Amino acid sequence: MTMALDREAARALDAADPLRGKRAGFALPDGVIYLNGNSLGAAPLSAAARVGRLVRDEWARDLIGSWNVHDWIGAPQRLGARIARLIGAEADEVAIADSTSVNLYKLLVAACTARPGRKTILSEPGNFPTDLYIAQGVAATLGDRTVRTVEIDRLCDAIDADTAVVLLTHVHYKSGHMLDMAAITAAAHAQGALVLWDLSHSVGALPVDLNGCAADLAVGCGYKYLNGGPGAPAFLYVARRLQAELVSPLTGWMGHDAPFAFGDDYVPATGIARFLCGTPPILAMAALEEGLAQFDDVSFDDILTKSRTLGDHFIAMVEARCAGHDLELISPRDAARRGSHVSFAHPDAYALCQALIARGVVGDFRAPDAIRFGFTPLYTSFEDIWNAVEILERVLDERAWDRSEYRVRAAVT
Ligand SMILES: Cc1ncc(COP(=O)(O)O)c(C=O)c1O
Repeated sequence: MTMALDREAARALDAADPLRGKRAGFALPDGVIYLNGNSLGAAPLSAAARVGRLVRDEWARDLIGSWNVHDWIGAPQRLGARIARLIGAEADEVAIADSTSVNLYKLLVAACTARPGRKTILSEPGNFPTDLYIAQGVAATLGDRTVRTVEIDRLCDAIDADTAVVLLTHVHYKSGHMLDMAAITAAAHAQGALVLWDLSHSVGALPVDLNGCAADLAVGCGYKYLNGGPGAPAFLYVARRLQAELVSPLTGWMGHDAPFAFGDDYVPATGIARFLCGTPPILAMAALEEGLAQFDDVSFDDILTKSRTLGDHFIAMVEARCAGHDLELISPRDAARRGSHVSFAHPDAYALCQALIARGVVGDFRAPDAIRFGFTPLYTSFEDIWNAVEILERVLDERAWDRSEYRVRAAVT
């Protein structure tokens, strides 16, 4: 069992952290302990300059010629290749496009269409809402499919000859529970089904090995651990062996084989480009590229070790110092089964979360009763989590959360 840290031990861990130099690459305001990089990653210091340069030296000066001169047109694949390294894929299997929700739609329809006799999209109850909502929309659009949800411990047994695609989030957005990608993918393949993985809470925080798991399809957010900025474009992955078989239902011109031939009839591009739809958002992609650049010289072993160690110490400190205050761990205690955030249930989780934010400890609330603390290996320090628990303990001891203003719900929680 991990021992609760004291401040000196936390500082010693920071001093020995091989990633300690990465924090200097991010804008983190003084007085804030940012434990929400799993929702919106911090801004890389280079992002503002890069976007400014793009406006000044590319858009304003070279205007439309920039699509060629500055290879704006190649951005979806160029950035996709950088993400490929983070998720165990080949460079030509990943592209940046649209939002995670839209990419879910494109790949789910493509997967269902490639498995015409199979009527079920299988997922788990409590999956991230957009995943379930998009699956429901896909079923409604196609007309002859249904969405079935089965508790995760029985899900593999529920995959059968009627399953077209299994849709799962690798690391659960609320509990932080990490699924066994290799085992679930193998179980689906044994029944002839495809699997679509949502990597939003894994990519950038943990090594992912899509090819090693023989994964079929994946999507993920650019604005969480990839630090691409609010609403950053998302990515999609299609295994090379499936690319010729699957066709996007959003047959926009950027996915056409020859967009600038301006023909009347849609012909899908070969390769990953067929999953693009419209014109790429170049300003947003420039910011995302700066987020991706933060990973250039890091080892994923170091990322994984730090993510797990931060989580283990955080749990140990909270349990040692905040006992008797109705906090219940809802994340796996075993780091090997956990992503990079830790969640606790509390009867007044919303108010508690607001009281912490008011004191500079930024986590977030997930209805109905969870408070999440995200650890971004690139910039969260051990002293951060020590300080966060110090503040949490005080807020709980003093019942400082128990104030009406902390119960006022904002639009975004
Ligand atoms: C697992 C998961 N998928 C998707 C999304 C969001 O998708 P989008 O960027 O389309 O809003 C989130 C956002 O938190 C998420 O946690």
